[in-house]
Amino acid sequence: MSDQQTITIDGREVPFTEGQTIMDAALAAEVYVPHLCHNPEFVPHGSCRLCVVKVNGRFQSACTAPAAAGQVIDNSSDEIMDMRRTLLQMLFVEGNHVCPACEKSGRCQLQALAYYTGMLSPHFTHFFPLRRIDASHPDVVLDFNRCILCELCVRASRDVDKKNVFGITGRGINAKLIVNAASGKLGDTGFSVEDKAFHVCPVGAILPKHKGFEVPIGERLYDQQPISVVGDVAAHDEENAHA
Ligand code: SF4
Ligand code: FES
Repeated sequence: MSDQQTITIDGREVPFTEGQTIMDAALAAEVYVPHLCHNPEFVPHGSCRLCVVKVNGRFQSACTAPAAAGQVIDNSSDEIMDMRRTLLQMLFVEGNHVCPACEKSGRCQLQALAYYTGMLSPHFTHFFPLRRIDASHPDVVLDFNRCILCELCVRASRDVDKKNVFGITGRGINAKLIVNAASGKLGDTGFSVEDKAFHVCPVGAILPKHKGFEVPIGERLYDQQPISVVGDVAAHDEENAHA
């Protein structure tokens, strides 16, 4: 008899090893748990809450909750999906997300999750925040309007690239992404399209200059299959970069 420890996600037994989170175990077993601020290559951040699941009847973030033997996890009930949809609606109104005009459309995890959860409208009143676009870098456009404050670029630039180009300042509604340069401009940093931080943004906030809309509508990543099957756009970008 196997002594492999397991958790149960939506009725399916999923093995885990000591130290894994529920998200780790789920992804290893190819069970999709929605997420935006999580990327398996980085320590969990636990900020977007899209990975909310019910563990033995209690809400928890799958990316930070340790897997423990016998857990019974709800990852797909109407209650959970409603909660995720509401979180997405809040993200959509808090920034300026103009999907039809966005270069990342069809490859954006925020948009793909809206489709996945069946979000049909923003529901809440738009904030329409005044945010700038930083086009000071020769190869990259930084559009603060689309930033969802997942901190993946912050973690990648600090922990992998060792450049510390990005930071988050302020709290709650006043939180915002900043560029660590005296001018506050990306062009005055050592940021490069070779950087890990260039490839991790789940939305269209960090984009390449000089090219856009190269893949026709209908052939983009999430046009082909839903995010629950295809997974994170960052992983695909990384694959393409090394192809
Ligand atoms: Fe996340 Fe992108 Fe904003 Fe960086 S720019 S915090 S990766 S959404
Ligand atoms: Fe778990 Fe963002 S993916 S909180």
